[in-house]
Amino acid sequence: MSVVALVPAAGRGERLGYGMAKALVPVNGVPLLVRAVRGLLDAGCVQHVVVAAPPSDVDTMCTVTASLASAGGAVHVLAGGAERTDSVRLALEYALREIPDTRIVLVHDAARAFTPAEVIRRVVEAVESGEPAVIPVLPMADTVKQVDADGRVVATPDRAALRVVQTPQGFAADVLLRAHASGVQATDDAGLVELLGLPVTTVAGHANAMKITTPFDLAVAEALLAGGSA
Ligand code: C5P
Repeated sequence: MSVVALVPAAGRGERLGYGMAKALVPVNGVPLLVRAVRGLLDAGCVQHVVVAAPPSDVDTMCTVTASLASAGGAVHVLAGGAERTDSVRLALEYALREIPDTRIVLVHDAARAFTPAEVIRRVVEAVESGEPAVIPVLPMADTVKQVDADGRVVATPDRAALRVVQTPQGFAADVLLRAHASGVQATDDAGLVELLGLPVTTVAGHANAMKITTPFDLAVAEALLAGGSA
């Protein structure tokens, strides 16, 4: 049985302002994508990583990840699609076509390059135990307001019942395939599973699995590395 991690990395990452695909932005000289793929393979429970790259960056992403493949894990790079959901679907179709016995699929953001191995293992173990969909989460530190188009508050959800969602999200491969058959665009694959009426389970995430989106996040990541806690 293969555990395959899909890494949609075909976005342009304009918010970081580096003028390159976000996944190729370096932290202390090492691209986010390399850190994320290495983290997945080093967790010891992922056999294949499939990266969806911007079409113009397929060769570059192949080159930077080539050294990460080992006896225990393979890295595949293909061109992603127009939207994130398209990139995930293309990577999933590739995995089901090319990687024998793909039974568990993770979907992981390259931007969560410092996700600890324990989070990856918790997600895989929960899917292995029979859960169709598993997401790592953290409690909300901030109060969240729902607002209307004019920015006026319409509701204050109970913070105790809210969670911040991280990746990798884990799925039984057939469940993720059914979820993507709808053709609906989503920021989050678990949301597509919810639309099928199937249960989505949570496991504990980790602060280091933060999504690196802005220059501030990049500075936090560099500080984590300098302090030895990533
Ligand atoms: O823009 P956002 O941060 O929500 O993108 C989430 C992830 O989806 C990023 O890792 C990005 O590279 C990826 N993506 C993709 N294909 C696209 C657009 C975004 O793989 N067409």
